[in-house]
Amino acid sequence: DEQTSEKLVELAKRRGYFFQSSGAYGGVGGFYTFGPQGAALKGNVEDAWRDRFAVAEGNMEIDAPTIMPEPVFEASGHLDGFDDMLVECPECSESHRADHVVEDNTEYEDAESLPIPEVEEVIAEYELVCPSCGAGLAGQAVETFNLMFATNIGPGDSQPGYLRPETAQGIFVEFPRLKEYARNQLPFGVTQIGRAYRNEISPRRSIIRTREFTQAELEYFVDPEEDEPDLEAVADVEVTLYPASEQNADDGAEIETTIGEAVDKGIIGDEWVAYFLGVAKPWYDAVGVDMDRFRFRQHLSGERAHYAADCWDAESEIDGNWIEMAGFAYRSDYDLSKHAEYSEDRFTVFRQYDEPKTVERATVDPDMSYLGPEFGGDAQAVVSELESLAGRDRDAFESDSIEIELEGEHHEIPVEKTGFAVEEQTEAGEHIVPHVVEPSFGVDRLVYTVLHHAYAEDEVDGEERTYLALDPEVAPTFVGVFPLQNDDELEATADEIVANLRDVGLSVTYDDSGNIGRRYRRQDEVGTPFCVTVDYETLENEETTVTVRERDTTDQTRLPVSELPEIMADLRAG
Ligand code: GAP
Repeated sequence: DEQTSEKLVELAKRRGYFFQSSGAYGGVGGFYTFGPQGAALKGNVEDAWRDRFAVAEGNMEIDAPTIMPEPVFEASGHLDGFDDMLVECPECSESHRADHVVEDNTEYEDAESLPIPEVEEVIAEYELVCPSCGAGLAGQAVETFNLMFATNIGPGDSQPGYLRPETAQGIFVEFPRLKEYARNQLPFGVTQIGRAYRNEISPRRSIIRTREFTQAELEYFVDPEEDEPDLEAVADVEVTLYPASEQNADDGAEIETTIGEAVDKGIIGDEWVAYFLGVAKPWYDAVGVDMDRFRFRQHLSGERAHYAADCWDAESEIDGNWIEMAGFAYRSDYDLSKHAEYSEDRFTVFRQYDEPKTVERATVDPDMSYLGPEFGGDAQAVVSELESLAGRDRDAFESDSIEIELEGEHHEIPVEKTGFAVEEQTEAGEHIVPHVVEPSFGVDRLVYTVLHHAYAEDEVDGEERTYLALDPEVAPTFVGVFPLQNDDELEATADEIVANLRDVGLSVTYDDSGNIGRRYRRQDEVGTPFCVTVDYETLENEETTVTVRERDTTDQTRLPVSELPEIMADLRAG
């Protein structure tokens, strides 16, 4: 049986949803162009995401560059850790993801988390072969391959840069300024919808794994001790969960529960992650993901990204396989702390105490000039060392002298000369590094899922029909308008209807070619929810009426032309 995916990819190309790019030059793996319908559907999905995750949640949206300098990715850990496992075929020299070769041909489900020597062993033990040419891969070295696309900023190679592998870093690096826009008040969220780039070893399954794709990400900054999500608002949301514990169990099964119950029972450990899963589930439903083919799966510990303390994926079922559409990660203070360490900026927010606190502070004399020229060392460095020691170990100042090492030199400083003192100070608050909760959506995979779940076949008037049962909110074309025949009067009326429907903001297509049945089929395949046909009855009747046909049922009704714009606009709004 031909899988829906194969039929969908063919339909997508024929009807202008998506197709492989640069076809005139033979095409290149992992790059796709969204055609007119696809670009409109993607735009509608992005607008729906923006409405829910930026506007309705009161979060800010930014638009940062896609190229950033090397130090950003040194700090973020991507330069060192954003790798996949690669194995090269000794025969045809094609590279493949070693973990995929293992997963596709053995019972291992999470080969990504295995250490390289073990992956090599599995390849040898199962006598795994090259997916392209069938040559044996046993004995081939498995290597790590960094997924970032590298480039040079400006002429020469003095300033290396990288195409961002996630939109998130564009938010983190601007935190010192963004927190000002949020008036230094936690919690606050910053969203970004934009391209991300990964030089995937084996791009596959059309737009599911590409080298350039669109992410819609929310970085939500919280005070881990003070802030709590509004769990009440999502407590009753019903969810299908597949926690790590179940995946590790022999007879592991998904759990049907509610967000409230899952938090109470500790199935979802972090309340912020639970909150965003609760927001996401009805949103996915609204944009047309089939809720019978949708679940949240927790990452196994070996599977988590280098920054994530806990992570749940939103997954959809495609032809019997589960694919990851989004990740909901608890990134803790990992990213902001790293950028603070590697840059010269402050990545903290001031946490005001309810009441000012009196605290004891140990201080030392900031002027060590008495050490004199015979000291032969850096007096300022001595002050820093002593300050740091006073902060962490006051007892050290109980003895007669302090011993410190500076640039390999040993110094003994009499305590009485350090000016050590403990003072009481009143403090209004403290600087803390916010923690980050991150819902990260892949737009392309969502578009694919929406199309796949909308794909339907039935029989109309004894003929097989294919249609996309797209939700009116995201359907790229909302209504098709057809004059029944090539007739000046019918065409003029149809033109007028098109103009009036466009005036109320609807996406309308006009079609006067081919018989009316063919035109309906064309719009069915595009997923256009309604078609309006202008026929002779339209012109004959006293009240001007047209036939309106509904896509899924093919039911037809007559409606007055004067009321069409309002009725259609209401249907679009749901
Ligand atoms: N900032 C977090 C982050 O980037 P991720 O799980 O690596 O997390 C988030 O990516 C989402 O981006 C994924 O759930 C997926 O939908 C999408 N994505 C990742 N790699 C992709 C690729 N090669 N092609 C298409 N979409 C991809």
